[in-house]
Amino acid sequence: MARVALVTGGTRGIGAAVSTTLKDAGYAVAASYAGNDAAAARFSEETGIKAYKWDVADYDASKAGIAGVEADLGPVDVVVANAGITRDAPFHRMTPEQWRQVVDTNLTGVFNTIHPVWPGMRERKFGRVIVISSINGQKGQFGQVNYAATKAGDLGIVKSLAQEGARAGITANAICPGYIATEMVMAVPDKVREAIIGQIPAGRLGEPEEIARCVAFLASEDAQFINGSTLSANGAQFFV
Ligand code: CAA
Repeated sequence: MARVALVTGGTRGIGAAVSTTLKDAGYAVAASYAGNDAAAARFSEETGIKAYKWDVADYDASKAGIAGVEADLGPVDVVVANAGITRDAPFHRMTPEQWRQVVDTNLTGVFNTIHPVWPGMRERKFGRVIVISSINGQKGQFGQVNYAATKAGDLGIVKSLAQEGARAGITANAICPGYIATEMVMAVPDKVREAIIGQIPAGRLGEPEEIARCVAFLASEDAQFINGSTLSANGAQFFV
């Protein structure tokens, strides 16, 4: 039977590419989204992948949403915690609300996504936890104290989960995309984005599919011994 994969934020940007790549690789895929009904409907129509609406920042909503996915498709074998937002501002202008929104979605949202599926993975002695972090969690970024803190936090989550899950056949890994051609990056002011591209030795933004293929590899049986690692895909912009 096909393995079941859940991708949060799975109807747009990197998440949409992950959802379709996993479907093409034979997984039964569920894509969650928070608010953009029109984009989710379009995504489902084009791909045949069902979209489920809940806010990852809300634990009870996540738990109920995931129960709905499991009722439809079966237990989740692969969870891709991808949902994330930016609320960029220089620190002296960053509001507590901008801090809170980003932490609630990008960091607590990762907990809320993994925690409900973890006991089942332990029981079945198989699981793949893949968290989409960011180059900016590795190097920091002007204007992103909130976002960089959450993306660095993702690395702590996977390194800890890797140790807890290894004996139960569960792996937990992070992917750190560099700047990828998505709506999130296109929302950065043109001048700033041009300057960023100038700092990427590859001379271009990455494509969402280039991250999706990293996810497919980490989800595969072949990646069983890769656990607690960080896979950077950033066109040589930053090395750790
Ligand atoms: N390093 C040093 N100084 C910088 C800087 C940088 N990277 N970026 C901006 N500044 C300076 C500017 O030169 C300017 O200085 P002067 O006033 O002396 O000219 C000052 O900071 C203010 O800059 P802005 O005019 O841009 O100020 P703003 O208030 O309009 O915007 C900002 C501030 C929101 C942080 C804006 O600069 C911005 O959006 N920056 C991009 C942040 C970024 O990279 N976000 C990534 C989004 S994509 C993503 O997050 C996905 C992922 O994982 C990679």
